Amino acid sequence: LVQPDRKRLIITIDGPAGSGKSTTASRVAQALNYLHLDSGAMYRAVTLAALDAKVDLEDDDQIIQIAEKSTVELMPQGVFLRVFLNRRDVTDAIRSPKVTEAIAPVAANPKVREMLAKVQRHFAVDGGIVADGRDMGTVVFPNADLKIFLVASIEERARRRQSELSAKGIEVSLDDLRANILKRDVSDSSRKISPLLKPEDAVTLDTSEMSIDQQVTFVVNEACKRGAVRQT
Ligand code: DC
Repeated sequence: LVQPDRKRLIITIDGPAGSGKSTTASRVAQALNYLHLDSGAMYRAVTLAALDAKVDLEDDDQIIQIAEKSTVELMPQGVFLRVFLNRRDVTDAIRSPKVTEAIAPVAANPKVREMLAKVQRHFAVDGGIVADGRDMGTVVFPNADLKIFLVASIEERARRRQSELSAKGIEVSLDDLRANILKRDVSDSSRKISPLLKPEDAVTLDTSEMSIDQQVTFVVNEACKRGAVRQT
């Protein structure tokens, strides 16, 4: 009798800010009982460490020192990941606009990227992971079993960001959000090291007119075609 294939895949989800990566990754991980690796959270945590230490963000060596000294941990709590920096829960702090604005030089630092990529690969030694970010399918897991590239219109991404912020009682105009997202797209796509690129062998999913449920179903179905087993 042939046993069903219970392969635990490495799934990558890359795409620009606001394309729905993190929510999709988290829900797919839940459906397959995999681990969700939110690589953006790691870059955010190192950036927060650099801001806390008041180092010059343009000084690569100082950022490297901070990254080397810091312990970044991701701990699943139900469907969410809590992020710890040097044992302190920074889950909310890393989402602040201050961190988002300061992140570009940290994410462009080759040594920091190398250090974080090593940790990211460590999470995936036994498979069973959904990793989301900008370079998961291109640089960190080039041999991933399933690569998804999420895209969405700028309008829709700005709208999503607006409702996220509004839920937290923060009101920002769509114009400001659009400008902010475009700025991040440019910095993510134009940096020399690990820019945001669609992996050649990725499946592209335009989520502009899709609900989260539809996105999750699509990715889970693709994973099942490749041997994953749905748990819920
Ligand atoms: O996905 P996010 O918005 O939380 O990511 C925050 C920033 O981190 C984003 O502007 C780019 C950077 N990042 C990266 O360079 N590489 C990754 N794999 C993930 C995020």
